[in-house]
Amino acid sequence: MTQHVTAALPADAPSDAAARREWWRDAVIYQVYPRSFADGDGDGMGDLPGITARLPYLQRLGVDAVWLSPFYLSPQADAGYDVADYRAVDPMFGTLPDADDLVREAHALGLRVIVDVVPNHCSDQHKWFARALREGPGSPWRERFHFRPGKGADGSEPPNDWESVFGGPAWTRVADGDWYLHLFAPEQPDFNWQHPAVHEEFRSVLRFWLDLGVDGFRIDVAHGLIKAAGLPDIGHGEQVKLLGKQAVPYFDQDGVHEIYREWRQILDAYEGERAAVAEAWTPTVERSALYIRPDELHQAFNFEYLTTGWDAAALRAVIDRSLDAMNAVHAPATWVLSNHDVVRHSTRLADGDAARGLRRARAATLLMLALPGSAYLYQGEELGLPEVTELPDEVRQDPAFFRTRGQDGTRDGCRVPLPWSGERAPFGFGPVEGGPSWLPQPDSWRDLSVAAQEGDPGSTLEFYRRALAARREHPALGGGRHLEWLDAPDGVLSFRRTTPGGTLVCTVNLTAEAVTIPTPGTVLLSSAELDPGAAEVSVPADSAVWWAA
Ligand code: GLC
Repeated sequence: MTQHVTAALPADAPSDAAARREWWRDAVIYQVYPRSFADGDGDGMGDLPGITARLPYLQRLGVDAVWLSPFYLSPQADAGYDVADYRAVDPMFGTLPDADDLVREAHALGLRVIVDVVPNHCSDQHKWFARALREGPGSPWRERFHFRPGKGADGSEPPNDWESVFGGPAWTRVADGDWYLHLFAPEQPDFNWQHPAVHEEFRSVLRFWLDLGVDGFRIDVAHGLIKAAGLPDIGHGEQVKLLGKQAVPYFDQDGVHEIYREWRQILDAYEGERAAVAEAWTPTVERSALYIRPDELHQAFNFEYLTTGWDAAALRAVIDRSLDAMNAVHAPATWVLSNHDVVRHSTRLADGDAARGLRRARAATLLMLALPGSAYLYQGEELGLPEVTELPDEVRQDPAFFRTRGQDGTRDGCRVPLPWSGERAPFGFGPVEGGPSWLPQPDSWRDLSVAAQEGDPGSTLEFYRRALAARREHPALGGGRHLEWLDAPDGVLSFRRTTPGGTLVCTVNLTAEAVTIPTPGTVLLSSAELDPGAAEVSVPADSAVWWAA
């Protein structure tokens, strides 16, 4: 039997037992996208009271924490990732007391709450930017952003060749002739993090939400805050293709780490293990690990895992590299399959066949939840929701869709409001049957609603509930830091997880055929129906099994 054990920790590393006191090390964190989770007031847009009312659902689901995407005052040029006031709740989502209620209610139910913080850029309606515009070239307020004169005799060309992540140039010219940098939409001017006032402001924003009681932050575009000195040209025409693969002078600059050291001190000064997770799209998991060195943040999203296809060798490789890289800095690995920026994984993994996509999605969930570390779920994956691929252009809101002339319309399709119950849209998303929802739901979601799945043992919802309940009970699910690969047929992954509290084997058949293997133990949970024999078991195509061993 061949085995691979991921790199051992140095002898002075904290023990598993000590690590388990740090809740974020193996937490299952559920992303709530406030626009689309639950609409309390019937205006077609999700809101904070809607979320609060549904917190018991999340407690029952069995997650440990909730991450809320932005609900701050915003003109919504990028669905709230364009913040006009970091200390105010947008009226469309509710009020500050509503946020306070949400956090209190979550804590009463034993759920932690982390909120998004958006430090790379603000809204063009933010008062600093408004003032910078008003005061004109040379104003000290312009130094809080990246204002530059243009190139060319009349300054009519952008200061450099950087492109916006959403397509088009990363610079916009204002009426007085200056240009300003926006790595995302023109309505999202980038802050200049070389300016002390920006540091001071965000220290204060963090404290504001920590004082309100949040358990931590998800840091938006954590890799973007520092730009290479002199803002050098890249000399490449399709920069979006480089992102996450190759170094660019506006992302993942070493200077960002000083900011997170500063922030860690703030988090540590509060009681209750406040934690932060970096949204850092870096070229490698090794670069991501730098964000979670002991004096920086607690977690970083593992986008290399998210972008790995349904391929046994590739998944095994990314799992090994992730564990090695994260263990080397004593940080937990994190795993994620979906979020509000990517095609839902039941569709991504489908290869054009929705039933296959759902089978694989369920298997992928068991794989993810068996790995050492923390896992992120995106709202609706527990219902097996597919991507909505047929939204009419006129209802789309994603700025990326418009800036790329529709080539990149992928982000609205994963943001369609959740179906909760009932026969007619919006399927309980809002209080009124037949009432509005900001994006239309497909009719077929009637059968995918929470109410439709509740109590049906074959449903994806009940499958998630069983998986998360087992994860709470079994320390080898999520706990520890290592795994041991076991011999398995081609296209099958099999690994053992051993922690002081118990041992577990996870088998994933990524092939299109059932595979017969020696029975590794007693079935704890399987993603497809299974009929295990005493000596051998046939594991169906595209399915996964947890075995108590
Ligand atoms: C992050 C968010 C994304 C947003 C972008 C700009 O990638 O996840 O939704 O558009 O940052 O803030």
